[in-house]
Amino acid sequence: MNTQHWISHFEANTRLNHELQLPDTACDLPEHVRSSLARSIAIFQLGESGGGTRLRRYTRSIASLEHLKGYQRAVDLFVAEEQSHAALLARTVKHLRGTLLQKQWTNSIFRWMRDLVNLEFNIQVLLTAELIAEVYFGQLSLRCSDPVVQTVAKKLLRDEMGHLSFQRDFLFERLNALTPAMQRLWRWQFQAIHFATACVVSWDHRDCLRSLNVTPANFRSRALRCWQSFQSRLERRLHEHESHIRHDEGSTPGYSRSSNATMQSPVS
Ligand SMILES: [Fe+2]
Ligand SMILES: [Fe+2]
Repeated sequence: MNTQHWISHFEANTRLNHELQLPDTACDLPEHVRSSLARSIAIFQLGESGGGTRLRRYTRSIASLEHLKGYQRAVDLFVAEEQSHAALLARTVKHLRGTLLQKQWTNSIFRWMRDLVNLEFNIQVLLTAELIAEVYFGQLSLRCSDPVVQTVAKKLLRDEMGHLSFQRDFLFERLNALTPAMQRLWRWQFQAIHFATACVVSWDHRDCLRSLNVTPANFRSRALRCWQSFQSRLERRLHEHESHIRHDEGSTPGYSRSSNATMQSPVS
């Protein structure tokens, strides 16, 4: 994994979030739109505000792997970028005259789930939230007329797309060590968890979505397309890598699959 690329990316990009100027205008959205947006964005703000304690603890366990050298530093910077998102969203909630949240049930479930299995599952739950965030911020940036909400949503959408690539790079390294059958099993559970999350989020944020003229069903179908796009890119990369190995096996005398497999770390 090219962790140096991600370290440079996060260092430069997070600085932009700290310096981001928001339009100096008062919110003049209709009351029902303002209040549902404020509540909805406050939930996403809470989700972005974690300190990454569990994720950092997990990454320490793989810090010594040669092909993931630098990953721990990249994750520290990734967590810092998520915290810059929390700060931007807090400014947006304030602009919408909303209230920041300390606790919310979907966020509590999300945090509980992340600690359930192992590092890959933690990343997968995070990734699920980021795939949902891609749709959410995409719709906010397109459909909300408030300039502050638009500015923040556009920036967060760009950042989350970067995060999706970051998580894909990591998952490629880890899934690559699984058999095709285990990869299919992983895909199935990932899709199931993503679908359940999209259902819960589209229901919990239904007032906000409706105020933007997005039905919960429309939100779910967009979420499904984002998941398919992510998954197909990941699978294409895994297949390309597999074909490469097959080609090497065919052209290198004495090469054996098992000798290459020892270079891969097992998914822990
Ligand atoms: Fe974020
Ligand atoms: Fe993210």
